[in-house]
Amino acid sequence: MNKNLRKAVIAGNWKMNKTPSEAKALITELKETVKDANCDVVICVPYVDLETALRETKGTNIKVGAENCHFEKSGAFTGEISAPMLKEMGVEYVIIGHSERRTYFGETDVTVNKRTLAALSEGLIPIVCVGEYLEQREQGITEELVAMQTKIALQNVTAEQMEKVIIAYEPVWAIGTGKTATAEQANEVNACIRATVAKLYGKEVADKVTIQYGGSMNAANAEELLSKPDVDGGLIGGASLKAVDFGVIVKAASK
Ligand code: 13P
Repeated sequence: MNKNLRKAVIAGNWKMNKTPSEAKALITELKETVKDANCDVVICVPYVDLETALRETKGTNIKVGAENCHFEKSGAFTGEISAPMLKEMGVEYVIIGHSERRTYFGETDVTVNKRTLAALSEGLIPIVCVGEYLEQREQGITEELVAMQTKIALQNVTAEQMEKVIIAYEPVWAIGTGKTATAEQANEVNACIRATVAKLYGKEVADKVTIQYGGSMNAANAEELLSKPDVDGGLIGGASLKAVDFGVIVKAASK
């Protein structure tokens, strides 16, 4: 297996943080700290910050993503945003099925699949999140569960579309807790996700899929996590709000 077959992608997930003026200030700093990156750099920001982010990152190596999108193109879905709306703005990436959406907003594997298909049909790059709760890890069902989440999320995604999909393994117990999966744990589950993709699409496609790790990845632990053969990047929450720390993570992925 050859890690060079795929792109390292470091994506920030700002979650519900930063007003437009705060976003502008952070991006001004980020432009400096990530300018020498030798990996893809993405910031996924709240909807109201997208316009600012797109404007402020123009001509830089920073790409912009949203944190969710609806599966219908338009209609009576008060408060939702569709993939065509994001596309027209110039957004390139979208996080789908983050555990916070699953836990607090009723997102299911089935809606994750629908949103993934909607994003792909507009040419957006979905960052599809999967991961287990602590009780599930303790029950020893992590790999089966994550394989199942992956399989359902990818239903009806074609092999050609699959080349655009990014998968993020985010163990729920590691998100925002300061408790990171060990590099071995992250690599083990990422390898299992890749094996699942290989079963569905063949090894050649699976070898090219970028599989990130997310969950308390920070400036201190990024290098070790990213050195693992199946960890192709990171989806970063808290540390993506600090320009210096995000820059260190990007540097670690650029090696
Ligand atoms: P933290 O990096 O804050 O743990 O968040 C990870 C995450 O949820 C990224 O999507």
